[in-house]
Amino acid sequence: MKIRVATERDIFQITQLFYDTVCKINRKDYTEEQIVVWSEHSKNDKNWLNNIKTQFFVVAENDSEIIGFASLDDNACVDFMYVHENHQGIGVATKLLISLESEAYRRGSVEIWSDVSITAKAFFIKKGFSITKVYTKKVRHVDFENTIMIKPLV
Ligand SMILES: CC(C)(COP(=O)(O)OP(=O)(O)OC[C@H]1O[C@@H](n2cnc3c(N)ncnc32)[C@H](O)[C@@H]1OP(=O)(O)O)[C@@H](O)C(=O)NCCC(=O)NCCS
Repeated sequence: MKIRVATERDIFQITQLFYDTVCKINRKDYTEEQIVVWSEHSKNDKNWLNNIKTQFFVVAENDSEIIGFASLDDNACVDFMYVHENHQGIGVATKLLISLESEAYRRGSVEIWSDVSITAKAFFIKKGFSITKVYTKKVRHVDFENTIMIKPLV
């Protein structure tokens, strides 16, 4: 498995992986209504292209298949962290997170944080993050329980 910086050419695989992961993996922790609202983000190509261009956006690749992706926004925020439904639990997110943490540290950040889903909470706890706030986020009239988690880098 190789970690590399994403390019605009990866957009199809990234958006497809996002859609499938939300519908198959996050589905276990969320209602049908929440999944519909969440998975619809996959359709906003303009937004994805902007994120790939402006964030530190990396993909995990096996041969030429993208099996996970993650991004660092604003030098210290883990914005995306998604692993392919068929490659869960084999260390893909661990590798992606190491890449984001190294970049955040290189940019001078002393901590890294994320706005975490119910599904990903256990992963981030395992990786040394602690909970600072649990709150309800409204996306198009639908409530999501999210958790702000933080980890010191030094
Ligand atoms: C959360 C997610 C990114 C984890 O990816 P992953 O590649 O399966 O994670 P890893 O294999 O690197 O796991 C690292 C450790 O976290 C633990 N872990 C990961 N997910 C876990 C879970 N749901 N429950 C308990 N432990 C979990 C693993 O057991 C592993 O522990 P170990 O080091 O002792 O073996 C993945 O499940 C995912 O894509 N979830 C859906 C998308 C999502 O919610 N993203 C976050 C949006 S904020």
